[in-house]
Amino acid sequence: MTVACSGNGGSSDGEGSQVEPELAQTSDPLILKARDLFKVIPLNTPKIDGVVSTPELVELGKTLFFEPRLSATHSISCASCHNPGLAGADNSPFSAGFHGARGGRNSPTVLNAVFNFTQFWDGRAKDLIEQAGGPLVNPVEMASPKAHVTEQLLALPGYTTLFAAAFPGQKEPVTLQNAQIAIAAFEATLTTPNAPFDKYLRGEATALDGSQKAGLSLFIDKGCAACHGGTNLGGTMYQKFGVTGDPGPIYRPVNDKGRGGVTGNAAEDYFFKVPTLRNIELTAPYFHTGSEPDLKKTIDVMAKVQMGQTLSATEIDQIAAFLGSLTGDQPKVTVPKLPASDAKSPAPDK
Ligand code: HEC
Ligand code: HEC
Repeated sequence: MTVACSGNGGSSDGEGSQVEPELAQTSDPLILKARDLFKVIPLNTPKIDGVVSTPELVELGKTLFFEPRLSATHSISCASCHNPGLAGADNSPFSAGFHGARGGRNSPTVLNAVFNFTQFWDGRAKDLIEQAGGPLVNPVEMASPKAHVTEQLLALPGYTTLFAAAFPGQKEPVTLQNAQIAIAAFEATLTTPNAPFDKYLRGEATALDGSQKAGLSLFIDKGCAACHGGTNLGGTMYQKFGVTGDPGPIYRPVNDKGRGGVTGNAAEDYFFKVPTLRNIELTAPYFHTGSEPDLKKTIDVMAKVQMGQTLSATEIDQIAAFLGSLTGDQPKVTVPKLPASDAKSPAPDK
């Protein structure tokens, strides 16, 4: 039997599963058009392939997400760069510690990341489980050698209990792979349902005001939705940043080839995963470089370099108003109690 996930409707602390409201019958042409292109964020935590989520697994994942002692210096946790209080990002162009090999990229939000078809700007991790292994051992993020992670976890006695509860029946549950699974299970709870736009898709015609509806029409008719579609209004494909024009070296430095850097295929140079626009008004600065602080300017750049169009100030305002309707209930994350260090726990690297 599959154990139902601790469904949460925006809370990662488990509130039991909720009944998903049906899409109401409607003849509103704009709602019908939008339903063809976008999907509602479900109230309940989505399932991850191959993972049976339990409250114990999510609790372990949350603890690890906030655990700074997994970093070499014991000072950086996932939450440092993906702060749940800052819509799962860090509101700075480059995260502390992330300058380096790839030329510096902006922290994407972890909220709703579970709906993205791959992870990272260049899609180099196939899912959240694989992704979670990256930063733990990445020299410019947390810089822990692989062995350090398990060694550190075993040296904090409280983790043995947490892993045993999350992986019942396993003889030696404290492994890097299990840590990744738990983190992914926690991240899957970080969804933001009930945005005005979700209510609108469900059939509540008054959930968007006039300017937001005008913005939605423009978003569809001008062609934004061709790339920014699905549940996340993004996260379903790679596209070139600069289809109809060069965004310039500030927005798109020459040395970061995006997807082309992963595949070695020059035809994919400067392709990036189309980012989600969910909660976008909360996650400035924008672009993979974090080089544009202003959402309206970002919309203007998109129209010019992706579609070869110049939008009027009114059109930009309306699209920005529509994007504001994508802000949903933020997950209520209570900070976990982390296992205590004891005399035998390793000290941080100097
Ligand atoms: C020093 C800052 C930093 C830390 C610490 C960090 N991240 Fe990230 N994270 C980033 C940056 C920057 C990216 C984008 C990198 C890229 O695309 O090349 C990213 C990407 C991601 C993504 C991909 C999201 C998407 O839409 O593509 C997820 C998920 C994620 N991180 C989760 C985590 C988890 C889990 C941890 C802890 C194990 C963690 N991060 C630690 C900065 C950080
Ligand atoms: C051809 C595909 C395509 C079209 C059309 C398109 N976008 Fe984008 N959009 C992208 C890609 C790819 C990125 C990531 C660019 C980067 O930073 O590398 C992006 C980034 C963005 C961002 C920044 C997101 C963030 O988190 O940094 C916003 C906002 C945005 N687009 C809005 C729009 C709007 C509004 C339109 C229509 C005017 C539009 N896009 C049209 C592909 C597209």
